[in-house]
Amino acid sequence: MEVVVTKSAGFCFGVKRAVEQVYEQVREGKKVYTYGSIAHNETVVRELEEQGVTVLESREELERLTEGTVIIRAHGVPEEIYGLLEAKGIEYVDATCPFVQRIHETVQEQSAQGRRIVIIGNSGHPEVEGTKGWTKTPAIVIETPEQAQNFEAKKGEKLCIVAQTTFNYKKFQDLVEIFRKKGYDIIVANTICNATQERQSEATRLAARADVMIVIGGTHSSNTRKLYELCRSECENTYYIQTLEDLQLELPNSVELVGITAGASTPNKIIEEVQNYVRINF
Ligand code: F3S
Repeated sequence: MEVVVTKSAGFCFGVKRAVEQVYEQVREGKKVYTYGSIAHNETVVRELEEQGVTVLESREELERLTEGTVIIRAHGVPEEIYGLLEAKGIEYVDATCPFVQRIHETVQEQSAQGRRIVIIGNSGHPEVEGTKGWTKTPAIVIETPEQAQNFEAKKGEKLCIVAQTTFNYKKFQDLVEIFRKKGYDIIVANTICNATQERQSEATRLAARADVMIVIGGTHSSNTRKLYELCRSECENTYYIQTLEDLQLELPNSVELVGITAGASTPNKIIEEVQNYVRINF
């Protein structure tokens, strides 16, 4: 029997990289702080806390800090946060995802050339707030068709549209279309990251070949639920579990391929545990 785990299961590249950077600093014996939680997963945050890592929940907490190493998470932060850390002389490790960094560069460049930045994304989302903090002209965040309709550029104003990396592509296209119809001078940078899309299509492809499919992720994780539904539509024997303890697997001899995938906030350790369990026990 073959057990196959999708390559894109679990953390995306950016989050994986940020988590690794935290562990690296811990190994070096540093007192580590993360500016915001590094991944939306309780197990990860708890484990890091056990290693002495503290989550700074706000800018005020960061301001009060006098020691240690601060990790900037994959979402990125406004430019002024770097200034604050440097002014305080606090050591930091920048784990901003390179894809997010590219957005910061784009908005910085384009706004410096006088374009107004339109961020298509969820207002208040840390990544969007971070991006806003890199523009030279005030940015505007657009989330809904109504907001796009109501937007009016100033006379002669040029725009540059970027997207939050996790924004839905179809919705992004629709909103851009509204701006195009207004006849503005716009530059559009599709900055949506395809990590989610890739995870879903890889899982669907594997589920289509698998006799049994295991989907790992939190019950409240909407991206895991979506993965489960996609896999279930290809493979009737699809199991949705949070951790190995939930797995009650009975595999008849006829099973030749067991597929495993996981939602975006599932740590590697849990995926490996499930994978080893299936390999050893069946
Ligand atoms: Fe992840 Fe970076 Fe994409 S954090 S979702 S790989 S933009």
